[in-house]
Parts: sequence; C-alpha cells; structure tokens
Amino acid sequence: MMDNLSVNIIVSILLLISITILLHYRSKNNKKKLPPSPPALPVLGHLHLLKKPLHRTLIDISCQYGPITFLRFGARPAIVISSHTLAEQCFTTYDLSFSNRVQLPSVMLPNIMGFVDYGSYWRSVRQIAVVELLSNQQLQASSDTRAEEIKDMVHQLFQSYKLHENSGGQNYFRRLDFKKMIFELNMNIMMMLIAGEKFYGDKIKDVEETQKFREAVKGWFELTGSANVEDFIPLLRILDLQGVMKKMKCITEVIEEMAQKIIDDHRQEGSGKKKTMIGTMLELGKKDSEKYSDFVIRNLAINLLIGGTETSATTIEWAMALLLNNPHILQKGRAEVDAQVGNQRLIQESDLNHLPYLHCIISETLRIFPPGPLLVPHESREEIFLRGYEIPKGTMLLVNVYQIQRDPEIWEEPKKFKPERFEDGKSNGNWMAPFGMGRRRCPGEALAMREVGVVLGALIQCFDWQRIGSELIDLTEGSGLSIPMATPLEVMYRPRKIMTDVLLQLSG
Ligand code: HEM
Repeated sequence: MMDNLSVNIIVSILLLISITILLHYRSKNNKKKLPPSPPALPVLGHLHLLKKPLHRTLIDISCQYGPITFLRFGARPAIVISSHTLAEQCFTTYDLSFSNRVQLPSVMLPNIMGFVDYGSYWRSVRQIAVVELLSNQQLQASSDTRAEEIKDMVHQLFQSYKLHENSGGQNYFRRLDFKKMIFELNMNIMMMLIAGEKFYGDKIKDVEETQKFREAVKGWFELTGSANVEDFIPLLRILDLQGVMKKMKCITEVIEEMAQKIIDDHRQEGSGKKKTMIGTMLELGKKDSEKYSDFVIRNLAINLLIGGTETSATTIEWAMALLLNNPHILQKGRAEVDAQVGNQRLIQESDLNHLPYLHCIISETLRIFPPGPLLVPHESREEIFLRGYEIPKGTMLLVNVYQIQRDPEIWEEPKKFKPERFEDGKSNGNWMAPFGMGRRRCPGEALAMREVGVVLGALIQCFDWQRIGSELIDLTEGSGLSIPMATPLEVMYRPRKIMTDVLLQLSG
C-alpha cells in the first residue's frame, strides 16, 4: 500500500505533466487561426461546459459561436460542425483527412473496425464486413433467420396477451415494456446472425454464461454511453476514482472471452454453423488464415453486435413513440401494409419494396432522432484548412447531424413528425446523414433498414397499439450511446382480430 505522501507526490507529478502538455499544446496552437471558441479553463478546457445530452449542449454552443466551433476536451482539440455545407465538405473534400477515429481509452475495444484508425487493418476488416457479411446477397440469404426471430416475438406477444385476456375483460389492452422487448429482439437477431445463438428467451443453451455475456454487453453500452471524463484527463484515468476503467476492463474481458468461445464452438461443431457470420469467416479462413485470424473474426463479431443492436432497437422505439403520438400516421402506415401484404400471412422483407410510406416513416424517425447524433467521432490525420481556419492534426471532428437534420433552412417545420415530406422523392437533395457519410459511413445500413422495416411492419400489421394514458408520450431524449428516450417506452397492445388466423398459425 502506498502512504499518503507517496500518493501526493505522484498526483503532483502527474498534474505537472498535464499542465506542461497543455501549455505546450496551447503555445503551439496559439499561432494558428482556429475557429471561434468559448472561454476555456486550464487543464479542463471546455469539459465543464459539456452537459448531457451532449448534442443538445453543442447546439447551444454553435448558436453562439457559429457553424464551426473549436473546443478542447482536456488537452484534446475538437471542432463541432453544425452546417450541412461544412459537413458535406468534411466527408467529401476532406474525407480522407478526417478518416481516423478518436481513441477513447475507456472504450477498451481498440481493435474493432469502428474504432481503429484508417489504414490497412481497417481496410481489410471493412472489406470483409461489406463484401462477405453485409452484402445484398448475404442479407438475402440471412433473411430467414431474422424472420424466425420476428415470428417468435409476435408469437410471444400473442401468447402473453391470450394468457391474460379473460381476466382483462372486453376491449382489453395489455401493457408492454416496449423498450425491453425491442432491445431483446434486436440482440437475438444480431446474435443469431453473427453466432447462431440467442441472447434471450427459453431456447438459450448455457443460461449462466449467456447471462454473464449479456450483462457485460449491457454494461459496455451503459459505460460508453455516459461520455467518460477519464478519456480526456490522463490524471483522472490513472486515479480512476469512479472505477470506470476497472469496470470497463472486466466487461471487455468477458466480451472478448465469450466471443472467442463462440468461435471455438463453431470450429468444433464444423459445418453445422456455416450460415452464421462467424461460420462464413471461418470458412473463408481456410483459404486465407492471416486475413481471417481469430483476432479479426473476434473483433469483427464484437463490432457488428455492438454496432447493430442499440441503433436499430432505438430507431424502432422512437418510431413507435412517434406513431403513437400521431395515430393518423400509424393508420396510414397500417393501411399500406394491409393493402400490399394483406392479412393472410406475416409481412416479409421482400414486401418492403412495396411499402414506400413505411419507408418514409423510418426516414422521418431517423431524421428527427438519429441514433448517432454526432456520428462516431472522427479525427484529422493531418492539418486541414477549413473555411479559412487551420484545424490541427489530431483534432476530433463532431458533426452535429441531429442539429443539421432539424435545420429550419432545410426542413420545413423541422420538429414535426411528417413522413409525407419524403413521399415521391420530395426531400431528395435535403441533407441528412443518419448513417454518416464517406469512407467511414455505416456498413450496416442495408441490414438496419431491412430489420427496422420488417419489425415495425410486423408490429403494426399484427397488433393494435395505444398510449398508456391520454397524455402524449414524452419525447425527451436521454443521454447514452444512441439517443435513448429519457423515459423508456411503455405501451398498450392487443392482437388485431383480422390477423387472428395468422397469429394462431404461428402458435401451431
Ligand atoms: C438504424 C441503425 C443504424 C444507424 C442509425 C447506424 C449509424 C451509424 C453511424 C452514424 C456510424 C458512424 C458513421 C461515421 O462515423 O461517419 C456507424 C458506424 C458503424 N456502424 Fe452503424 N448504424 C446502424 C446499424 C448498424 C448495423 C445493423 C451494423 C452492423 C451489423 C452497424 C455497424 C457499424 C459499424 C461496423 C460502423 C463503423 C464503421 C467504420 O468505422 O468504418 N451499424 N453506424
């Protein structure tokens, strides 16, 4: 154990080092023509200004200082972009220059595609993801897996309603924790696609291990979503007074161990698991073991699980909340599904091409509540000249997509939920980028659009939905990794009479 004197000496030395780095950095950047910036504090920079949710705080700062603002998080320089022309420039003219990622030490999964810097490793894993795992052909082949999970979800909702129907009386609507249901469904879909194993439900193979893995993934989302100040102040990181770094280390160890175990199980089970993403990569690894090493497979599997779960689940949750606050839009969406799909079978992914209004509902949801309101922070690989300002190498780029997608100069009545604005290509050319832009753009967009479309479609096809009370659902945003609702969505539902035959068949 260290005595108090030693701790004090270490703290003083670390403080001195932090201040020296900061002064060095400031004197270097003082000569540069940087974008406008609010007054900063020593050591902290602008960290003290950053209230949650971050994208909203940044709107206040942009309104005061303009469409390009310079901030410092500890010693780390950052720019905030809040105009579509500048955002466009960052991801076209300067796309390569901004193609690195910010390394946040608390995230602790430094080798997953979404967090690594631009370079040969990133290019190789990105190519695997785009060409071998998420291509249209692969998505077509895996649509049955998603359909099975959706059928399971619809069946469970129906069963659980039936169980309580008699005690509920006529016109009974059952209360549902929508957020929990949709998060578990998305986890199961992603786990089945990646690993061929479920995360939730009664068909889990190893309950104890799955529970541990599930808790770890949940913990990772929670800790990453809370924007840790330890990422910007080395001293706080070393002291780790909140235990964030320690907790994250345990969590990521569990995630990595489990991912490796799933790979080992796949290897042992051989060809039985080929239809999963891990199975596909192991198969390809037989011809190129270096490109498809366990390290690559493990990190890619973890990235797809993390990238594909909360984002899609949150989108469906917001869409349902918006629909319940606007029942006429829900009715219009349902009328389209009834007309195009009918009531004799469950909606499928192949129906989505014939459901343009459902697509408009999803686009409008992604416009108002983009799950990545600031994208995933990029970082400059070199000095960049943007709108006459000198942006130093190593600057974090925060593009406030949330703000731009609500810009009244682009969008009429920007806060209003109006899917019609996307009908017949009316909004083509209006800038929005819920999946990002340029080379670091989301590789999971096509999967997400299929999944969100068919889940939302099935929910409105099979059930009637109501708000819990007469008041509108509170659309306040919470803080977290992907713009969660501040109050997790709860709803009332009942099976539609017209769908009874289909629902009974699912139970059979
Ligand atoms: C509605 C659903 C989704 C939304 C809104 C979304 C949004 C985003 C955004 C904004 C980025 C960052 C782009 C940038 O930095 O410029 C991103 C990156 C990424 N997303 Fe998604 N995403 C969704 C679903 C998915 C799915 C289903 C997967 C995979 C199965 C996925 C995998 C990834 C990966 C791997 C990256 C990192 C890309 C890179 O750094 O090269 N996402 N996503």
